[in-house]
Amino acid sequence: MSNENEQNGTNEMTAATLTTPTGPGGRILLGVFEMMNPNNGMPTWTHPQGRGDDWDQLDYWVGLAKELDAAGFDFLFFADTYGYATLGGRMPEEVAAHGIQFPALDPMLAIPALARETENIGFVVTSPTTVERPYATARRFGTLDRFTSGRIGWNVVTGSSQATTDELFGVTTQLSHDGKYDAADSFLDTCLRYWEHSWDDDAEVRDRATGVYADPAKLHRVEVSDDHQRSAGIFAVPPTPQRTPVLFQAGTSDRGRAYAARNAEAVFIQGQTIDSAAAHVRDIREQAVRNGRRPEDIAVVTGMTVTVAPTRAEADALRAEYESVLGQDDAAVMFAGITGLDLTGLDPETRVVDLTTDLGQTLIQRYARQNPEMKVGDILDQFRTKAIRGFQITGTPEEVADEIEAIIDGSGIDGIMLEPTFGGPAAYRAFIELVVPILAARGRVAGAPDAAPTLRERFSGAPRLAPTHRAHRLAPKASDDRILTPILNGAHE
Ligand SMILES: Cc1cc2nc3c(=O)[nH]c(=O)nc-3n(C[C@H](O)[C@H](O)[C@H](O)COP(=O)(O)O)c2cc1C
Repeated sequence: MSNENEQNGTNEMTAATLTTPTGPGGRILLGVFEMMNPNNGMPTWTHPQGRGDDWDQLDYWVGLAKELDAAGFDFLFFADTYGYATLGGRMPEEVAAHGIQFPALDPMLAIPALARETENIGFVVTSPTTVERPYATARRFGTLDRFTSGRIGWNVVTGSSQATTDELFGVTTQLSHDGKYDAADSFLDTCLRYWEHSWDDDAEVRDRATGVYADPAKLHRVEVSDDHQRSAGIFAVPPTPQRTPVLFQAGTSDRGRAYAARNAEAVFIQGQTIDSAAAHVRDIREQAVRNGRRPEDIAVVTGMTVTVAPTRAEADALRAEYESVLGQDDAAVMFAGITGLDLTGLDPETRVVDLTTDLGQTLIQRYARQNPEMKVGDILDQFRTKAIRGFQITGTPEEVADEIEAIIDGSGIDGIMLEPTFGGPAAYRAFIELVVPILAARGRVAGAPDAAPTLRERFSGAPRLAPTHRAHRLAPKASDDRILTPILNGAHE
């Protein structure tokens, strides 16, 4: 806080606007990572700054969305899962007793209320490809795109807590890890066919004089029949502002990255170091280019836990208080929910590279990339304080702003997703009051509402999927696809 002008945003540099490009030196996309449960994964619901009493109240989420909207945040992201963590097929005591991502409500149902009470902020909702059906998913997101006037995104996941989710839904066929991503490709293609190809742009006539609502000649029947999906018919939802919701993706196993490079417009990573995040960004973008896309077609956002206070000592004390409420048993339970592996039941000397799973591989691969010799005991220790989180930043407002800029500029990442500490909105409030004005004065964020008609325009400047996206090369009928033909940039084949 050395420069008062910076704090007031009155120095020569002006705040970023939506036309400022993202990336090194540019605008930083600002989001918040939430889950609709008591504490967002950490056993913090009883803390005075927790949200144990509020998390199931719609007003709580409306209030949060309004605060973020007023501060110029680009999006509010909801992770979600139908399942919960299990060990050996049973719900461990900690899950219910400590509220570890349980119980939980369905965030998708809150979105119209949040959108109605806000002006600009976008909303990203997680929905899994393993138990949902493509047509229902396409219709729900189409409806949300209409009701939010184009402020919706979909975090496409094959799913965490898959063991319980499968049980809850009666899924009996078990696909391999990569097989789930193959099925997810087919799932998304089916949705894309409905969103992008079932209605021509001018099919919805709504002509009172002639009494024609929609021109039947401009509607196209979608037909998909492959190893994973069977769906045929005409989409019931007319074209919406974005047609396709902004496509987020989060799994970063090798197969997950390949999926992202093919499909995603935004990739959510949990960056750990600038170097490893930079390598990750490079890898995703190189793979995207091999898929006929431009590097800038994919925005990368990293999770980040920021503990900020006016003085370093206060920030350190707050962080220490936060870490003191985290326990290793809770961490082990959450790890098991994501990976299906009970680390407490393994020899602590087991090497991470020797672990295998058909559930989420992101965490295992993350630790293996860090250090192939890492042991199960070391993972549990690290996971206690970091869990499924990205960069951990603690400091004064100036220190935090400097570190965020260093991360963004050193890695090629486009934005950050703030992770809550004690569960309630206090952490975001401190960030909004202490850090946002500094980043705005440095020209890195808007710092105030900045109107983009759609969420996609915040990311790419255009309301519709980039012309290089493979969705444009799909045809309504799967058999008409020429997916493997060379890409004609910008052309609808
Ligand atoms: C940062 C991050 C966030 C995720 N969020 C969710 C989520 O909200 N819901 C869910 O079901 N799965 C979530 N996942 C799971 C993945 O999207 C993916 O389906 C799963 O991890 C398997 O893929 P992987 O092996 O590539 O990790 C998340 C994964 C990561 C890395």
